[in-house]
Amino acid sequence: MCVLCLHNVCLCVTCLSVCLSACLSVFEMDPGGPSPLMHFVVAKKTINGIFDQLLEYVKEGSEFVDETWRSADLEQVAVEEQCLEIQTCARKLATIQEVLARRHMKVAFFGRTSNGKSTVINAMLRDRVLPSGIGHTTNCFLRVEGTDGDEAYLTTEGSDDRKSVKSVNQLAHALHMERSLDSGCLVKVFWPKSRCALLRDDLVIMDSPGTDVTSYLDSWIDKFCLDADVFVLVGNAESTLMNTEKLFFHKVSERISKPNIFILHNRWDASAWEPEYIDEVRKQHMDRCVSFLVEELRVVRQEEAPGRIFFVSAKEVLSSRMHCAQGMPETGGALAEGFHERLREFQRFERTFEEFISHSAVKTKFEQHTLRAWQITEAIKAVMDAINIASAERKIFSLEDREDQKDRLEFVRGQLNRLTENVKEKINTITDEVAAKVTVAMVEQIRGLPALVDEFSADFIPTPHALPLYKAVSSASRSYILAILTHDQQLNSILIVNIRPLLPPAVQEQLHIHLPSRKFVLTYDLNLATLCADFQENIDFQFSLGWTALVSRFIGPSNAKRALTCHMPLNSLQNTSPTALQAHGGTSLQDHMVFSMATGVVSLTSRASMTVLVIGGVVWRSVGWRLIALSATLYGLLYLYEKLTWTNASRERALKQQFVELAIHRLRAIIPFTSGSCSQQVHQELATTFARLCQRVDLSEVELEGHIRLLSGRIQRLENVQRRSKTLRHRATDLESQLEAFSAQYLPNQC
Ligand code: GTP
Ligand code: MG
Repeated sequence: MCVLCLHNVCLCVTCLSVCLSACLSVFEMDPGGPSPLMHFVVAKKTINGIFDQLLEYVKEGSEFVDETWRSADLEQVAVEEQCLEIQTCARKLATIQEVLARRHMKVAFFGRTSNGKSTVINAMLRDRVLPSGIGHTTNCFLRVEGTDGDEAYLTTEGSDDRKSVKSVNQLAHALHMERSLDSGCLVKVFWPKSRCALLRDDLVIMDSPGTDVTSYLDSWIDKFCLDADVFVLVGNAESTLMNTEKLFFHKVSERISKPNIFILHNRWDASAWEPEYIDEVRKQHMDRCVSFLVEELRVVRQEEAPGRIFFVSAKEVLSSRMHCAQGMPETGGALAEGFHERLREFQRFERTFEEFISHSAVKTKFEQHTLRAWQITEAIKAVMDAINIASAERKIFSLEDREDQKDRLEFVRGQLNRLTENVKEKINTITDEVAAKVTVAMVEQIRGLPALVDEFSADFIPTPHALPLYKAVSSASRSYILAILTHDQQLNSILIVNIRPLLPPAVQEQLHIHLPSRKFVLTYDLNLATLCADFQENIDFQFSLGWTALVSRFIGPSNAKRALTCHMPLNSLQNTSPTALQAHGGTSLQDHMVFSMATGVVSLTSRASMTVLVIGGVVWRSVGWRLIALSATLYGLLYLYEKLTWTNASRERALKQQFVELAIHRLRAIIPFTSGSCSQQVHQELATTFARLCQRVDLSEVELEGHIRLLSGRIQRLENVQRRSKTLRHRATDLESQLEAFSAQYLPNQC
């Protein structure tokens, strides 16, 4: 009993070892080690793994480049062309990956009809998968490949319908029923991998109709042969290679550069019946086939050619394998002499074929894609390098820019502190100067006031109705500009020289708008009408040597008037407090002293009138009446003269003089207030202007801080871009190392 399949087999060593070998092969436990086809399978898995990583990497790279390109503040660190390039790479990779996933090893069997092509395939598959028989059996191309399911099925060209196939007879029947099929059609047979070890390893087997039954060899080649890794020419050992077979391979070698061709001389079991000629026949076939491969087709070197030529009996192998599979002795059928030798040759063919096809397929199916992957990683590396360099350059610019901005911010802050002290002092100086200038201007105005009042001319009619009008008109017509002050040029110089560098360039151009005007037109309406609203003229005739005039001359006109009219009793004045006195018409304490003296004199005259008369009598007696009479006459003449010359002009002159005296008095009183108010006005103007400029500088500081923050953020982002581009470049290098390792292992010639 076979220890693996548990079938009863012949207990001879040969039978047991053949069954065991077959079982091991089914269970992928070939005594010679793992299937050579695994070379392709592992290579495919490896390259697919690399492409998976590569695709993921390129997608990530594409996102990174796209993101970098779209970042508005990263100024062309990445450009659109790079995005497009990397996207194209991603698309190409996706296509290659799809192609790679579908990649398989393909072997195509050709030969004249009934040479045993289908039988050879069945022997390799260890089961009667494909119909075979006498005569023209295979009427179309049959492509056999593995399926993961348990059910075998077929699909015909142009249709995805799965037709279930349980046995070879059903397949033959199905193919027979497909009347529309001609020799150029393709039927795909999906055979469960679980039932055939060979199909597990991405091997596709193509069976074909006999090359001698078609006139469409060219279209066959175009349609079915261009992607074949190995061609197996199944010849009939009972005859020699026919021209029809040779013609086909000539056509194949015209389309495909150095096709890989194996030649099987099938039906070699027939040689068993003529053992005396076996070596001769074998040599004859061998020479012809070598000549065909080496000299005619030139697809293989002379020394390699015999390794491509085998003498087998597919029918025997299939039969023995099927017997083994069913637990029967392998020689259960009528096997001719030399079967084991032919079996070993068949196994040698299988192993050689598998090694060859897997290596060849790895090269043809993966070499170009590996090269393409190299080109893609190189292209991406170049993109990452360019982004890395661009981001490094821009980072350096941004760092320098940020340093400049920080220096500037520091300068602005320090300079503003120093300037503030400077400007405050300067403003104080200017306002003091303004106060002095206003005082001087007002004194000048006061000095010119008599002349100005004198220049005023209007109809002067000294009637009680006309006078107020004259006074109002004359006082209202006087409104003076006190001064046009030009403030010191130095302030503007200080501001221009010191503030300008602290402002942003755009504001620097508009600095003149913010600077204070160099001229202050300080107007002050003297408004004499209001100022002298309580002006009370005194244009009544007054004799210069009269009692009132004399008193006025001594104590002043207003005091004299009060003294002479005695409106204010002395005792009431004595009780008035100094504060109250000041409030009363602005009269000073000194004035009250004089007033007291005057009223004292008046009261004294009334009391001493008798004394005067006594003194007069004494004078009368001593100087005589003539002198008195002369004096009285002169006094009378003088009075008469003054009375006659007291005209309207004199009255107007007196009124103007009284008005001027009052105005000057009032103006002098308001000088400190006016100069103070003007200097205050200038101070406020200058201080406001400076504050406004400081505000601009503050804004400039805020702008600088904002700019510094922006630059810091930008530097951070550039560093990220730099880091990511570097990482992505390293990953490209890693992938290249993997590709290199793949090439070294699977594509040695490429390295
Ligand atoms: P077509 O499909 O018609 O092109 O023929 P084919 O090349 O596929 O031949 P097929 O496998 O159908 O075999 C034709 C006949 O040859 C069958 O009856 C097989 O049994 C027989 N046959 C195949 N291989 C051998 C062999 O090695 N020895 C002997 N004696 N007969 C074989
Ligand atoms: Mg066939």
